Amino acid sequence: MIAPGADVGRCVIGPAAAAAYVREAKLQRSVAQRLATLWRCTMGNRLPPGPRLDLGGGAGALAMAMARRGCPPLEVVDRSVSLLRLATGLQVRPWDLDRGLPVAEPALLASSFALHWLSQPLESLQQWCRALRPGGQLLLAVPTSGSFTSWRQAAQQAAVPWTGLPLPVAQHLREVLATQLQLHHCHLLQRRQGWPSALAFFQHLKRSGLTGGASGRLGATELRRLDRCWPRRSQGHVIVEWEVLMALARKPRGAVP
Ligand SMILES: C[S@@+](CC[C@H](N)C(=O)[O-])C[C@H]1O[C@@H](n2cnc3c(N)ncnc32)[C@H](O)[C@@H]1O
Repeated sequence: MIAPGADVGRCVIGPAAAAAYVREAKLQRSVAQRLATLWRCTMGNRLPPGPRLDLGGGAGALAMAMARRGCPPLEVVDRSVSLLRLATGLQVRPWDLDRGLPVAEPALLASSFALHWLSQPLESLQQWCRALRPGGQLLLAVPTSGSFTSWRQAAQQAAVPWTGLPLPVAQHLREVLATQLQLHHCHLLQRRQGWPSALAFFQHLKRSGLTGGASGRLGATELRRLDRCWPRRSQGHVIVEWEVLMALARKPRGAVP
């Protein structure tokens, strides 16, 4: 049973934003599919029994991609009740991950485009690694601090504040993973999007409920200045860069959970 009124917090996705998110989150969908394919090719045949979770799974893009690649069902854990309602056919659990994990000794923790929304991403990742049972697997995709270089450059040139969400540093995430787990795959995926204007990009973030706790609002004049300074593609679109850490790791068999 999903209780109403649970959509409170930094990443606020209510009913309208949930539908918009599912429509617009093309990058997130393609990253989820890529992560699931990597899993199939590297660790797919070595999954121990036990709880399997898609953390911050929203409408279940990653859980569905995993199922299509032969993985037994994942439970989708998310604080947004509106998104969980759209996770058709999947087992869901409304839960605030800032409180920790909802189960002990999971066999599989998968998470795509969610860790950076938690109040302490590195600490949460540490907890996730620690909680895994021996042989348990971690699949992670998370945007990192090398993202949005054009936006940062434009903000500096236009002398307007940077209003993006602070993103974790890839090297810090990698260190947390390597300390506790065996890394089977770890690389930085680079993606570039074009948006007709800075405003169009910000509206997309807002429609999807993804403006985040750190995003102060810019006034119309500041926004125009930012837009003018933003590097553009030949067709005139502003460039938005994403740097996404893709990691697959396993808890050593002899490890104590
Ligand atoms: C960008 S969406 C990604 C959703 C999904 N993983 C995907 O790839 O489409 C971020 C998700 O993290 C969830 N989220 C943010 N903070 C959370 C928290 N503290 N506890 C649980 N879920 C959280 C949001 O509700 C949202 O569904």
